[in-house]
Amino acid sequence: MRSIFYLLALTATSLAGDPQKILKQPLRQIAEYYHLPPLREQAAIQDKWTKERIDNVPAILNKYGVDAWLMSQKEYAEDTVFWSLKSAKQFSARRRTVNLFIANPTKGTPSSYSWIDNTPEVWSDILEVLESQNPSKIAINADESSAFSGGLHVGELGILQSQLGKWAKRFVVERMVAIEFVGTMVPGRLEWYEKLQHTAWAMISEGFSSKVIVPGVTRTEDVEWWLRDKIQQMNYTTWFHPDVSILGEKSPFEITESPVINYGDLLHVDFGVTAMGMNTDTQHMAYVLRPGETDSDIPVGYLEGLKQVNRLQDIVKGYMVPGATGNSVLEKSLNKMRAEGFDGRVYCHPIGDWGHAAGALIGMFNLQEGVSVLGEVPLLKQSYFSVELYAEHFVPERNLTMNFFLEEDVRWDEKTQQWVWVVGRQEKFHLIHPAK
Ligand SMILES: *[C@@H]1O[C@H](CO)[C@@H](O)[C@H](O)[C@H]1NC(C)=O
Ligand SMILES: *[C@@H]1O[C@H](CO)[C@@H](O)[C@H](O)[C@H]1NC(C)=O
Repeated sequence: MRSIFYLLALTATSLAGDPQKILKQPLRQIAEYYHLPPLREQAAIQDKWTKERIDNVPAILNKYGVDAWLMSQKEYAEDTVFWSLKSAKQFSARRRTVNLFIANPTKGTPSSYSWIDNTPEVWSDILEVLESQNPSKIAINADESSAFSGGLHVGELGILQSQLGKWAKRFVVERMVAIEFVGTMVPGRLEWYEKLQHTAWAMISEGFSSKVIVPGVTRTEDVEWWLRDKIQQMNYTTWFHPDVSILGEKSPFEITESPVINYGDLLHVDFGVTAMGMNTDTQHMAYVLRPGETDSDIPVGYLEGLKQVNRLQDIVKGYMVPGATGNSVLEKSLNKMRAEGFDGRVYCHPIGDWGHAAGALIGMFNLQEGVSVLGEVPLLKQSYFSVELYAEHFVPERNLTMNFFLEEDVRWDEKTQQWVWVVGRQEKFHLIHPAK
């Protein structure tokens, strides 16, 4: 999902060949609907993932040199991390909910504690554990820059300090603890993440078809609401309202009305689904064929623009190395792009538990020189990223330099040691055929 969006005019380039011929996977195979299992089965699947994630916590604490991790929250004022720790049957924290993790518990004692209590007994219980485990560094989520490691509410910090006495002097802020916990996607999640992606593609493919769009009649807003209803019909939800726009001279940002879609339009969608505790984020483009036009009549300038933005995807994905910082991937990618003679922007983000999830930012739409703090975070292997960007390309048929926007999600592949598309990427326009 992008936050701002505009178009610039620039110079011409030309490419030979037909980009449609280099298509590797036909769109329709990737676009496939997956029904969700009954809620009870979903809960069992999700809780299994959550257990695996919680089992990882001591290793994360040891990696970042802290001995304990303490989270405290009240009903409706949850720590951001609560949502990644909770069981599928929990809908909020209750009373005062406290989680305490110990990196290296003494033999025979647990590494994880949780309390749901609204009496002073919670403090004596916690003190007892702290006395027996004697942690030197206790991580709390009081970071100033990251939502994921900054979820401790100020009132809770106050009460922890007043109730835990000398232990509060051992509180430390280690930003990466929460980021790595929330950002880590355990392997079991991938099967369903792929199904979510296939389903998102299927919704886009159907929304960008003559079934939904009648040129001269349908407005962009109609397609957005069709997508919302489709999400509901499939028992999925989403994390942002879909955005459908017509690419052209004017920034969709400046357009207040919802324009009617016409023959020859180049359409764009920014779309995500949510299910089973995971989120997707996809941007695709579609061409509205004019009456009498066939697939081979798509303006060459558009085909070349798509090829250009596919190239930018390859460049960015090529520089995404685990351990590299987001800013270094951004800088290398932009340099390479410019060296190849074209322009664009890169603004990739982690995705998973949240649409904009925990981890390294590779640029932001308005920050192409680097992102402070979150751009300095290293890319974590076991995470998903949304490769979000645009390339500029001069379209002779329109006498206009246009921005070609794409977004696809990637996951780390242990075998090939690289990030790979979760299900694929757009290399061919969705086509809206004229009514027969
Ligand atoms: C959505 O959920 C309802 C109620 O459980 C179920 O009857 C229906 O088949 C589900 N629809 C899809 C498309 O999975
Ligand atoms: C193309 O656009 C440029 C700049 O907007 C304009 O000066 C030029 O006349 C246009 N060319 C044609 C053929 O319309």
